[in-house]
Amino acid sequence: MPKTYAIAVIPGDGIGPEVVREGVRVLERVAAVDGFGVRLTRYPFGAEHYLATKEIFPDSAFAEVRGHDAILLGAIGDPRLQVGMLEFGIIMRMRAGLDLYVNLRPVKLYAEHLCPLKDKTPEDVDFIVVRENTEDAYTGMYGHFKKGTPDEIATQEILFTRKGTERVVRYAFDLARRRGKRKKLTLVDKANAVRAMDLWTRTFEEVGREYPDIAREHAYIDAATMWCVKNPEWFDTVVTSNMFGDILTDLAAMIQGGLGVAASGNIHPGKVSLFEPIHGSAPKYAGKNVANPIATIMAVSMMLDYLGETRAAARIEDTVAGLLRSKRIPSLGSDSGLSTSQVGDLVLGALEGVAVRS
Ligand code: IPM
Ligand code: MG
Repeated sequence: MPKTYAIAVIPGDGIGPEVVREGVRVLERVAAVDGFGVRLTRYPFGAEHYLATKEIFPDSAFAEVRGHDAILLGAIGDPRLQVGMLEFGIIMRMRAGLDLYVNLRPVKLYAEHLCPLKDKTPEDVDFIVVRENTEDAYTGMYGHFKKGTPDEIATQEILFTRKGTERVVRYAFDLARRRGKRKKLTLVDKANAVRAMDLWTRTFEEVGREYPDIAREHAYIDAATMWCVKNPEWFDTVVTSNMFGDILTDLAAMIQGGLGVAASGNIHPGKVSLFEPIHGSAPKYAGKNVANPIATIMAVSMMLDYLGETRAAARIEDTVAGLLRSKRIPSLGSDSGLSTSQVGDLVLGALEGVAVRS
């Protein structure tokens, strides 16, 4: 009996539905080619749904989503609504509620001409960022005092726990070992100014002793952004806290060709996990069939890899890499001259012909 995976699909806002449409077409096609099944359940949550019903993400739907094997998300965010409301109600709800403590962001350049850096090749830009995904300034612990007055005080807690730090650091060491490339893990923090990050420094050292085969390196976040542009080949596996990881991975996405290609996994190993493009909802492109769906298609590849369908995952990745290298998809921005569905068609057309790594 071929395996069938239950996938919750949340297209979301803006360009989300269009890019997810193409991601799902690719998912269904590789499933047929590689011999497994997918059962999709679509959820309407996002701005339109909220405006029509005042419902963000009801508990009953959350409980259902939890019962799937994985979640595919498009994008969340709409300028008509209060900043952060849907982001918190939908994305952060799943990250916290499903305890998706790893945010995995591969930074891989597939074709040299897509890199804005001079003289950098695919060999130079090939690392992966492990971003902690449940703590830091993202727990929603904040407050205002004397709000709206000249004496206003606003606070937001930056919170790190030993358990939360240790589990993500351990995941990153394991990943550095699994990648088997440069066998190096770089801790990115700001322990010189954010003194609570001493917890990261100590945890990294302690856990690192269990991985004598993995070299430990360190960079402060400000220096890490500089290295990312100057010497990206310096990185192999990077582990960092939630907010620094958020910022560093948008920068890193640019050196791999832009947000049009960058995908991510929000992972709790062994449990239902969520995959999404890094880009946002881009409201000004919504409904125009111009957004590039490659990042979502790559998120589908990550999802299949996570589910153990490594052949199908590699098939998608190799197909996309081939189309980018040959310039059949000439660029990743809205200047590519290709519509959202044309990019999807190109991927579908090339999928079966690709010689898949075994
Ligand atoms: C991301 C996004 C989110 C984050 C926003 C939408 C809350 O920027 O996934 O990187 O900051 O984590
Ligand atoms: Mg971000």
